[in-house]
Parts: sequence; structure tokens; C-alpha cells
Amino acid sequence: MKNLILIAAPGAGKGTLSNDLTDKYNYAHISTGDLLREAASKGDELGNMIHEMQTKGELVPDEIVASALKNRLQEEDCNNGYILDGYPRTVKQAETYEEILKELNKDLGVVIVLDIEKEQLIKRITGRRLCHGCDAIYNIYDPKLTPKHEGICDKCGGELYQRSDDNLESLESRYNTYLEKTQPLIDYYSKKNCLYRVDSSLGKEHTLEQVEDLLNKLGDNVD
Ligand code: AP5
Repeated sequence: MKNLILIAAPGAGKGTLSNDLTDKYNYAHISTGDLLREAASKGDELGNMIHEMQTKGELVPDEIVASALKNRLQEEDCNNGYILDGYPRTVKQAETYEEILKELNKDLGVVIVLDIEKEQLIKRITGRRLCHGCDAIYNIYDPKLTPKHEGICDKCGGELYQRSDDNLESLESRYNTYLEKTQPLIDYYSKKNCLYRVDSSLGKEHTLEQVEDLLNKLGDNVD
């Protein structure tokens, strides 16, 4: 399977699409946000710095992210295709990523942009609930994505929680960072002829179907 890079605004659905593709096709899912939250949870000096930056919606320094990513890419499950969710986020990170790919002898693959209007992101971010146990993603404002029992995961019975950066202030900062630093990547990858766009404004099944159609057209034969 081709490696995938997902580029999208905060709350557009990168994590949800990654979970759906991973469940169906066994991709490895690499979220740099999750890798950094894991590092932050250690509570040491570096962890506290990462936590503070994530809560404010600021980008964590490149060297820290690149090192966590490089380690993760060397795990065996990445050999059959992986999804990069949240990396690269700047043109500089894209250049670093190409160096890492060369070093590890891996392909860039396909870049997918999830399109959505800013207005829709507010409910997606403030209504998001996540499972501590299995990382399932819910939304309390969307009847199709609401857990059956409040605060409890349908899949594993785990406790649901809200991320510390899932508030309006942090969303504003993350969104502005996205416009300023991440959107230039769309041009960058368009010029390399590996960029495709998908509408993420409708239900998650609709997003998944579009990506499956795209991958089939590109010869990945996911059915
Ligand atoms: P990260 O964890 O990557 O957060 P983000 O980019 O802000 O994206 P989110 O995880 O908030 O949203 P998502 O697109 O995954 O949406 P989801 O699927 O959950 O990064 C957090 C922080 O870490 C950054 O701010 C930064 O500090 C740091 N960081 C990370 N990577 C970095 C890097 N490379 N360099 C430097 N710093 C870095 O969906 C959202 C909601 O919508 C859910 O409730 C879901 O149920 C719902 N939903 C999803 N899809 C649909 C759909 N199609 N229809 C209806 N509802 C949907």
C-alpha cells in the first residue's frame, strides 16, 4: 500500500479517517500529535514544555518532532504502508521528511488534503471526545458519532476524555498556524504531482469512500 500524508485544518477529520483506514486496511497510523502527547505525559522538563505548546496550539520545535517520527518509522508495522497524520506541517518539515525517507529508503506516496470550511471546525473540536483505552473518536454534537452511553467508549468500554487543546482559544491559534505555515504545503506537493483533495465536510463514511475511490484509481486496489 502507498504511504499517505494527510494535510488538513485542526478538527477536519485526519484522525478519524486514519482510524477508519487502519481498521479496514491495516495501515500503521502515525499521528505526530499523539507521539508528542505521549512524550508530554512523561511529565519531565521536555514533556512539560511540549504540553504547554500543544495546549496553546503552537508548533513544537522541528528537531523534537523529527526525532520522534524517525524512531516511529523504523518500527516494523510501517513497512506495509502508513498514514502520516499531522506531519509535515511546514515546508521545512517536508524537506526534513524527504531526507528521512531517503535515509530509511521509503517512498513519499500520496498526499491527501481534507477540505472543510472553518465554521464547521468549532463543533468538531469542542464536541470531540476520545477514548483513553482504544483512541476511538466521538462527537457529542453529531448523532451518528455520539457514544451510546455518555462518557463511555462503545468499542472497549474505556473512559472518554476531552483534549486540553480542544477549546475555542486554542482552535483559533491552531487554525491560524495552519493557514500561515501548513497551507503552503499544498502548493509544494501540487508541484510534485502527488496531491489530491477530498471533501471532508460531510459524514465520515463519505470521506472514507472518496479516499478509497482515489486509492483504487491510483492502483492500490483497496476494496
Ligand atoms: P494534532 O493532534 O495533530 O491536532 P490537529 O492537527 O489540531 O488536528 P486534530 O487532532 O485536532 O483534528 P483531526 O483532523 O485529527 O480531527 P478528528 O479526526 O479528531 O496536533 C496537536 C498539536 O501537537 C499541535 O497544535 C502542535 O502543538 C503539536 N504538533 C503536532 N504535529 C506537529 C508537527 N508536525 N510539528 C510541530 N508540532 C506538532 O475529528 C475531529 C472531530 O470531528 C471528531 O469529533 C470527529 O468525530 C469529527 N469528525 C471527523 N471527521 C468527520 C466527518 N467526516 N464528518 C463529521 N464529523 C467528523
